[in-house]
Amino acid sequence: MPSPLTPSQPSRPARAPIPRPFVLLNVAMTADAKIATATRRTTTFGSPRDQEHLYELRATADAILCGARTLIETGATLGNGGRRFGQLRTAASLSRYPVRVLVTGTGSIPSCAPVWARKWGPIIVLTTAKAGEQAIARLRRKADWVRVYPEDGIDFANALAWLRSEFGILRLVSEGGGELNDALIRGGLVDEIHLTWCPWVFGGQAAPTLSDGIGFQTLAQAAGFRLHSVTPAGNELFLVYRAKIDPGARRRAAP
Ligand SMILES: NC(=O)c1ccc[n+]([C@@H]2O[C@H](COP(=O)([O-])OP(=O)(O)OC[C@H]3O[C@@H](n4cnc5c(N)ncnc54)[C@H](OP(=O)(O)O)[C@@H]3O)[C@@H](O)[C@H]2O)c1
Repeated sequence: MPSPLTPSQPSRPARAPIPRPFVLLNVAMTADAKIATATRRTTTFGSPRDQEHLYELRATADAILCGARTLIETGATLGNGGRRFGQLRTAASLSRYPVRVLVTGTGSIPSCAPVWARKWGPIIVLTTAKAGEQAIARLRRKADWVRVYPEDGIDFANALAWLRSEFGILRLVSEGGGELNDALIRGGLVDEIHLTWCPWVFGGQAAPTLSDGIGFQTLAQAAGFRLHSVTPAGNELFLVYRAKIDPGARRRAAP
C-alpha cells in the first residue's frame, strides 16, 4: 500500500508559520470509535501495517507526546522502531531517536514505568504543581527536563512554544490517549489527525475514544477538520484530516 504520508509533505516544514511545532495526532480506532476496550486490557488492535505506519510517522517527527495513562496502561517506551525507521530519521536529518514528552498533571507515572528504563530519546515531563514537591522531585530524578505548570493545568500552547524555542522541536506526533487529545484539540493545537479505522467493535460506554476529557458543547464550537486522504489497506482505512482553519487562529478567537 502507498504510504498515507504523501511524498510532497516535507518531514519538517521549511518555515513554520506559527511559533510552535506542527502537531499531528496518530490514533487507531475501532469501527465504533473506541481506542481501547472498556477494561483497557486490549490497547493494541491495529494490523502490522498500522504498526508500521506509527513508526513511519514517528520517523518524521522531532518528538512524541504521550499521556500518563497511555504510558502506564501500554508500557510504551516511545522509541524509533528500530534500525529501518532510524535510517528514515537520519535521511530526514532528524536525531536518531525522537524526544519523548510525557504529560502528567499529578505526577502519576511510576518509577517502574518501562519508558524510564530505555535510554532512547531525552525525556521531558510536563506536569503541574498538583503533583506535589515529592513527586516532582522524583520526576526530576528520572527525566532530563521537567516543566511545572500551576495547579489549574498545563498550558499546552505555552508548552509547545517552549518545546520549539528550547529544543528546536518543529514537528511533534501526539500518540494520545483520549484525554490528552482532547486538551490539544480544544486548545486549537492540532494540525493533522492520522486515523487508522480498524475492523473491530469494542462497545462499552467506558471505553476511551479519540477525544475524551471535556469536549465541545456545540457544533459551532467543535474543532473542524477536512478530509485530506483516504488509503485503504487490507481491512483498514488510513485517513488523514487536516485542520480546517489555522488552529492558532481558533485558539486566539476562543473566549
Ligand atoms: N488506539 C490508539 O491509537 C491509542 C493511542 C493512545 C492511547 N490509547 C489508549 O487510550 C487509553 C488512555 O487514554 P486516556 O484518555 O485514559 O489517558 P491519556 O490521555 O493517555 O492520559 C491521561 C493522563 O495524562 C495526563 N493528562 C492528560 N491531559 C492532561 C492535561 N490537559 N493536563 C494535565 N494532565 C493531563 C493526566 O495524567 P495524571 O493522571 O498523571 O495527572 C491524565 O490522567 C489507554 O487505554 C490506551 O491504550 C489508544
